Amino acid sequence: MLKRKLVAGNWKMHGRRALVDVLVRGVRQALSAAPSKVDVVFCPPFQLLGDVAAAISGTDLKLGAQDCASQADGAYTGDISGEMLRDMACDYVIIGHSERREYHNETSEQVAQKMLAAHNAGLNTIVCVGEKDAQMDAAARQAIVQQQLAISICDTAHAMNTVIAYEPVWAIGTGLTPTRDDIIRMHRLIVQSLPPKVKGARILYGGSVKADNAQSILSIPEVDGALVGGASLNKDDFLAIIAAAA
Ligand code: PGA
Repeated sequence: MLKRKLVAGNWKMHGRRALVDVLVRGVRQALSAAPSKVDVVFCPPFQLLGDVAAAISGTDLKLGAQDCASQADGAYTGDISGEMLRDMACDYVIIGHSERREYHNETSEQVAQKMLAAHNAGLNTIVCVGEKDAQMDAAARQAIVQQQLAISICDTAHAMNTVIAYEPVWAIGTGLTPTRDDIIRMHRLIVQSLPPKVKGARILYGGSVKADNAQSILSIPEVDGALVGGASLNKDDFLAIIAAAA
């Protein structure tokens, strides 16, 4: 079954308030002509959530955050909870991005805890998995992704509140992408590895999705959308990727 595709823009630690005007209002304007065939999610850094929420209000564009705490409230200086994100009008939160796993030592156990907290707050989660090294053989790559999934996916996950993003770490920000066959194989493996109630979840590809390769990646039937980093910061590039998904 072909699902409605989802394109999420992960701004990472980029953006000041002026970007919201150019990028989000620009995308809003460009998409306003016709009802969207694609779910579009902006994931700006925390300080811009309010500005982006205002810029997309009244549209079916969605807001997401890039991380959340595993607690709802409390003495956790610097942390932001899923409940707080809901309060800021977020519908989505990215959990377990490879940059969180790498620079903040997040484990798959912590990813599961954050996912649970996010679901309890009423958020949909975009959970990232992916192998680090392009040189690994296929069996080793698959074993890593299967292990990440087995631990990261919490009990509250189901097909409607969970999105999986397959992001080979070596493809992020490098301009490199796996072959079409490798993407198909990994996406099929992910479907097989998910618990039964999560099996219908959308599975995104992420890692150097650009305006010029979006069509070939998003035309793969196993790919239900894209998690886009660098190219999501440019209005025309992001629009081209949304158009390829549609
Ligand atoms: P990239 O990042 O599109 O810049 O490769 C993707 C991501 O990290 O989600």
